[in-house]
Amino acid sequence: MSLDDRRTDFPALRERPEGTTPVYLDSACMSLVPQSVIDAMEEYYRDFPGCGGRSLHRFAEEVGRRYEASRTAFARRLGRSDPHSIVFLRNSTEAINLVAQGLAWKPGERVLISDREHNSNLIVWQRLVKERGIRIEILPLSDSGEFDSEALEERLGRGIRLLSLFQTSNLDGQSLPVREITERAHDHGALVLFDGCQAAPHEPLELDRLGVDFYAVSGHKMLGPTGTGILAASPGPLATLRPLVVGGETVEWSTLTDHELRPPPFRFEAGLQNYAGVIGAGAAIAYLARLDPHEMRAREVELNRRFTDAMADEPRVHLLGPTDPARRPSIAAFTLAGVDAHDAALFLDEGYHVMVRSGRHCVHSWYAERGIPGNVRASFYLYNGTADVDALIAGVRELLERVPLSGTSAATTGSSPRRASGPRRAAGSRGAAVRSARPRHRGGRGRAGSAGGSD
Ligand SMILES: Cc1ncc(COP(=O)(O)O)c(C=O)c1O
Repeated sequence: MSLDDRRTDFPALRERPEGTTPVYLDSACMSLVPQSVIDAMEEYYRDFPGCGGRSLHRFAEEVGRRYEASRTAFARRLGRSDPHSIVFLRNSTEAINLVAQGLAWKPGERVLISDREHNSNLIVWQRLVKERGIRIEILPLSDSGEFDSEALEERLGRGIRLLSLFQTSNLDGQSLPVREITERAHDHGALVLFDGCQAAPHEPLELDRLGVDFYAVSGHKMLGPTGTGILAASPGPLATLRPLVVGGETVEWSTLTDHELRPPPFRFEAGLQNYAGVIGAGAAIAYLARLDPHEMRAREVELNRRFTDAMADEPRVHLLGPTDPARRPSIAAFTLAGVDAHDAALFLDEGYHVMVRSGRHCVHSWYAERGIPGNVRASFYLYNGTADVDALIAGVRELLERVPLSGTSAATTGSSPRRASGPRRAAGSRGAAVRSARPRHRGGRGRAGSAGGSD
């Protein structure tokens, strides 16, 4: 399938009436959905809008069948042989919370996290420190992406009960060696939880073979609808978790004084479920299954390299993470000397229809440690092409030209991490220099006169 064919599968990328086409480079936050996912959700509401697992009529039967088919599809994609190791939740934040709050912690037990975890894999542990007396150990990671096995061994030697780490960082795109970490953790008797949010969208996994105990995924980062999350767990560890929420659908029976929980995964899926979402997420997996992950990865690296090489001539642009884009394929995060990250994002959107993320990407702790107010992040996915990257490059170049270093926007010079909090699109976040630097270019991807070619 050519890229142009693939792009037409994504209605959000269509040319707009005014002749512009969106350049979507924010898939690490949320990916776009193909028409087949929209169709699957619509089909649910149109053709069999029942509740699964309760009623016996034909709508309910069909819902149940499709819902469980999605479970099987996720199990296959993530490398779990038993579909019952897949729990459907709202997002990976909820999946991590289920593990964190579902384990029976004793005071003094330790969890190991890295120094750049998403808030979804940080705040819940901080809460458990206060509420259950656990301790957090931090594994420092290198910005260049070299993994320090000795540092891991040293931390494991302190007696860790659970390691909870990203597989791929949403901050700088670097990935951790899942196999090595899992083996070392198990050698020390520790459980492992990987936050697979930024990894699962890009490759099929082999969680059973790797022995990963818990794995958290967001369906909406892998072509699925919003509010779909998955915890993919080994059966043994999963059975030890206390459900976060109980109620309808979670029990075999109840009396006025007692109940018996259903086996996993059903005990974790309380109340009427997001049937349309889960069925749509299953359609997303079917879409991904038709693509060659090696080809996908190679394209992301190519796009990232194109941007990285172009920025090599721009001394004011500093890229985060490993120098080689092959080691951070889907993410190009960068600071622009003299330009506030939110200002840059607004400029790119307004002038080039380039949508990027700006700020601290829910990894506030990392920025706070370094006194950096934030940065810009472009993320690439299977529908992006060189024209998208060229629009980004052109936008960044025009911005740098329009905001000379001496005209530093107010928000960029502050070293306090608090400076960048607050408004995103609200007035006040824009620096004076950027405010006056209206983009000359008002094109977008593939528009006549834009820097981009077409794939
Ligand atoms: C690495 C990582 N972990 C966790 C999350 C949280 O995902 P969600 O909001 O879908 O729960 C994100 C979202 O960007 C992420 O990138």
